[in-house]
Formats: sequence, structure tokens, C-alpha cells
Amino acid sequence: MSRKVTDPIRDLKKFIREETKVIRERDPAIHSDAEVFLYPSFHAIFWYRLAHRLYQKGYYFPARLISQLTARKTGIEIHPGAKIGKGLFIDHGHGVVIGETSEIGDNVTLYQGVTLGGTGKEKGKRHPTLGDNVMVSAGAKVLGSFEVGENSKIGAGSVVIQPVPPNSTVVGVPGHVVERKDHSAPQTKLQHEDLPDPLETEIENLKAENAELRSMIDEIKKKLEERDA
Ligand SMILES: CC(C)(COP(=O)(O)OP(=O)(O)OC[C@H]1O[C@@H](n2cnc3c(N)ncnc32)[C@H](O)[C@@H]1OP(=O)(O)O)[C@@H](O)C(=O)NCCC(=O)NCCS
Repeated sequence: MSRKVTDPIRDLKKFIREETKVIRERDPAIHSDAEVFLYPSFHAIFWYRLAHRLYQKGYYFPARLISQLTARKTGIEIHPGAKIGKGLFIDHGHGVVIGETSEIGDNVTLYQGVTLGGTGKEKGKRHPTLGDNVMVSAGAKVLGSFEVGENSKIGAGSVVIQPVPPNSTVVGVPGHVVERKDHSAPQTKLQHEDLPDPLETEIENLKAENAELRSMIDEIKKKLEERDA
């Protein structure tokens, strides 16, 4: 029976190489590799990886302890139960919370003030699942156990409480889709503009329904008047 032998020094070097690549690719503000060690994201993800291993082995207290101590130092609270893929970058990091049942795909970017949280109404899986290459902008809250499709962007300050299709841009409170780059997917064409927007669509549907009801009422009134004449 072969046992997997791990070399912590080699693993650490690999981690530093990968983090350097991720941060240099995604933050134009970095000027030298050494600056990587100044990023809260670097420290938060390093300690999360360790805490997650402990959590998976059932060492919940030490896992939470690492997570909480790291949160005090970096402003990034990642529950050790969260599942996180490769290439996560958390820029700036102040006030970021990633809940226990969150799942994060590869190459995701989060900015300061992001919450991947629950609504308080769900049990079990209660935090969101972000697909690969998702970007969640500063101050956005993604709340609930739904999926944010790959390559989607959540605008700054949005509160997202519903699933997001892949390749979408979502903005506002509550969040709604303003742009879909995947033109092969079915899209709703509005009469007065090209951007598909679920809120606009709903308003158009209500207007049409209202017009239909008005014409039915007019018809009934006419028939009643004819009967009483
Ligand atoms: C959402 C975002 C990523 C832009 O995505 P995009 O796909 O390029 O979208 P656009 O800029 O074309 O905007 C699409 C529409 O959404 C609106 N919009 C964009 N961001 C918005 C926001 N945060 N809140 C409300 N509306 C927003 C735009 O005004 C535009 O509306 P319009 O078509 O009526 O003019 C960007 O606006 C954003 O929020 N960036 C923040 C990034 C960040 O956190 N930076 C912090 C660095 S420290």
C-alpha cells in the first residue's frame, strides 16, 4: 500500500508561486513579487487551506480558531467548511465573510465588503455556490444557497438573492441581470431597448395584462348598458 508523502516546504513554495501569479494577473497596483506577502488575501487563503484540512478531519475547534485569528488579522473571515477552488483573489479584504457551506470555483475574484452568506431561512446548504471566473464587486452581498453561473459579474453594492445565469452582469438591490454575453442562451427582447432586463420584462407583462383587463371591463360595461337600455 503506497502512502502519499507530502513535502511542506515544496507545498509552501508552490502556494507562494501560485498566489504571486494570481495577484500579479489581477491587481495592477502590485509592482514587485515581494509585495504579495503584504496582501491580506495571501495570508487569509494560506490559513484557510490549513483550517480546511483540519475541518475535513473533524478537528472543528482548531479549524475555527485559525479561521477566527486570521479574520482578526486580515479582515477576511473564511469559514473552514467552505469549499474553495484554485486561484481565489480577495482584493483589499476588509469586511469579507465567506460562510460555511459556500462553494467557490476556480479563478474567482472578491473585493472588500463582500458577504457570501445565508438568509437565515435555510438549513444545511445555506450559502451560495460561485462558478469559475466569477467576480463579486466591492460591498456586494450574495445571500442564499443558489448558484452564480460561471463568468458572471456582480456589481458593487448589489444584494443578490436569486440564481444568476452564467456570463451575466447583475446589479442593484435586489440584484437583477443587466447584460448577458452568452448570446446562444435564450434572451428576452424588449420593444423599447435591446438590453434584457427581468424587471423591465415584468413591467411590460403587467402593462399588457392591464390593457387586456381594461378592454374586458369596457366590453362588460357595454353589454350591461345594452341590456339595461
Ligand atoms: C458591474 C460592473 C462589474 C460592470 O460590469 P459590466 O458588465 O462592464 O457592466 P456595465 O459597466 O456595462 O454596466 C451595465 C449597466 O449596469 C449599471 N451598473 C454598473 N454597475 C452598477 C452598480 N454597481 N450598481 C448599479 N448599477 C450598475 C451601468 O450603469 C449600466 O447601466 P445602463 O446600461 O443603464 O447604463 C461594475 O460596474 C462594478 O460594479 N465594478 C466594481 C468593481 C469593484 O468592486 N471595484 C473595487 C475596486 S477597489
